[in-house]
Amino acid sequence: MTDLSRPAPHGAAVATPAVPHGHGQAPAHDGTPLPVSVAPEALALLAARRSLPLRSLVDPGPSEAELTTILSLAARVPDHGRLVPWRFILLQGDARAAAGDRLDALYRAQNPDLPPAKGDMWRTYLMRAPVTVVLVSRPDPAAKVPEFNQILSAGAAGMALVTAAAALGYGAQWLLKWPGRDPQAAALLGVGAGERVAGFIHLGRPAERPSDRPRPSLEQVVTVWTPD
Ligand SMILES: Cc1cc2nc3c(=O)[nH]c(=O)nc-3n(C[C@H](O)[C@H](O)[C@H](O)COP(=O)(O)O)c2cc1C
Repeated sequence: MTDLSRPAPHGAAVATPAVPHGHGQAPAHDGTPLPVSVAPEALALLAARRSLPLRSLVDPGPSEAELTTILSLAARVPDHGRLVPWRFILLQGDARAAAGDRLDALYRAQNPDLPPAKGDMWRTYLMRAPVTVVLVSRPDPAAKVPEFNQILSAGAAGMALVTAAAALGYGAQWLLKWPGRDPQAAALLGVGAGERVAGFIHLGRPAERPSDRPRPSLEQVVTVWTPD
């Protein structure tokens, strides 16, 4: 995979503190805000992004270089303690069918009464999108950082991945169905003990532009705290 070294977006000034500072240490600035540039394109992308139905994710999928960009951006999210409590498993090309066949065999074994028509449903599922990224949460229970913080970091990685894909013109659909929820199925995909699938993020070129879905109003989700 290619290296991802990029300048700061829109030429934004990057402040590198001479002395790293944290709680209780003197800040490496004098309180004057640095000049910044706004990124209207980024705001427009965030405002327009939405998931695509799986049936609308078509070839071509992201190239290897594009996947490197998408995954590199997904890997630069807030991460308390720098524990990297997530990782990615790629399902692409012919491996999708092979993975789907193994999942189907397990699903048939778990569901002996499954109608024959559903016998290859997971192969069909994985073949729909050109590329699927399995987002794996892997919190370290022995770490001092709360496990919840580590799990939230995996969610942030998923959102960054979806956003980066959108910026490159790819549609995404984040699903968590049986192959991600069943430990035996997840193990077939290489998910280990102590790990948990946070989602299957399917990627492909959009074949349609679905209208937006209702979004919560800010009145529903925002309160301003005041002392009583
Ligand atoms: C962790 C997670 C798992 C999800 N799993 C499913 C799923 O199994 N089935 C489903 O229909 N939607 C699922 N969704 C929701 C889809 O991603 C949905 O298309 C999306 O929330 C639409 O929102 P958007 O238009 O803002 O992208 C899941 C979302 C998340 C964050």
